[in-house]
Amino acid sequence: MTISLKGRNFLACEDFTPDEIRYLLDLALKLKEEKKNKLDQREFIGRNLLMLFQMNSTRTRCSFETAGNDLGMGTTFLSNSHFGNTETIKDSMRVFSSIYDVIGYRGAKHSDLLEMAKESTIPIINGYTDHQHPTQMLADAMTLMEVWGKDNLKGKTICFIGRGGAVNSFSYGVIAALLGMNFTYITSYMEYDEALSMLSPAQLKLYRKFVPEGSVNENWNTEMNPKKKKIVEDLFAKYSPECKFIETDDIEAIKGVDMITTENWGFFTDPVETWLPGIFRFRPYQVNKELLEKTGNPDVIVMHMLPSTHNMNHSSGQQLLKAIEDPKLREFLKAGMEITDEVFEEHSKYIFREAENRMHTIKAVMKAVTE
Ligand code: CP
Repeated sequence: MTISLKGRNFLACEDFTPDEIRYLLDLALKLKEEKKNKLDQREFIGRNLLMLFQMNSTRTRCSFETAGNDLGMGTTFLSNSHFGNTETIKDSMRVFSSIYDVIGYRGAKHSDLLEMAKESTIPIINGYTDHQHPTQMLADAMTLMEVWGKDNLKGKTICFIGRGGAVNSFSYGVIAALLGMNFTYITSYMEYDEALSMLSPAQLKLYRKFVPEGSVNENWNTEMNPKKKKIVEDLFAKYSPECKFIETDDIEAIKGVDMITTENWGFFTDPVETWLPGIFRFRPYQVNKELLEKTGNPDVIVMHMLPSTHNMNHSSGQQLLKAIEDPKLREFLKAGMEITDEVFEEHSKYIFREAENRMHTIKAVMKAVTE
């Protein structure tokens, strides 16, 4: 079967069939091999890539730029434009469509991306929105293909544990369903008030500086949003009916999984003091040695999309430690938040391969969709 994705947007993995996703993964593997062999990949000389980023990024931005360069494209990084602020998305898109050949976008609102896609005459690639992180899912799947064998993903079980939020648990559920893997999502259902009651008076005061009494914490609910859950369930029913999709707060569900992944317990876009209730909430869900033992699987691997708070040796970590008086909790955090430093370093060969594969998979998407 011949697959061509020329001119298509890459906004969400569920817009693609399993064959199309596998086509992109095979292409990424081929491009990685070519790059290792120093082959010239400049197929798009004279073409231009716009990277429109409205949120911070290390991996995604670097991946888009190097992938564009490798493919021979000129690149523009834009983070301070009129887009959506002093100019309508429609007008900006009319400009971008006439100058560029492909766009990489990162922004908080998927609705903005959908509006961009409606107005655009060139392909757009989603580099993260509040709907999904689809290029990250390709990088994770590619890494699993390399570790387990290209055709050995089917029937494996991948697990997201901790703060899956609106985006990550959903993203993993979608890619699992498309590639025939079981998906286990383990998260905390602790109520917001219960977590707040665990803060010391001083911590609560700090927290209230940023989240005043009476304000609603819309991001507190980590159960997969019902609309997103339906998308995942429908994909499993359509493509992988033999696979299981579980969401639970029971840590024992970790038994038998083949891959564990997690994410920081607070929002990087928010001040670290706002992470405090999440620390009390997700503490039992840390990826540590005991959790790995609970899997009963000596070959279980750990991945992390990064950035990770596996120790406190960065300014956010230092700031967070200032807000913690309890010496035991300080020691706990120094050894790692969502994942211990020990487990992170032990599995770093997978984690940083996953980071490198962001570039190869983004390059594959860019090559596939650019006309
Ligand atoms: N994983 C990921 O998207 O990393 P960045 O936020 O650094 O791009």
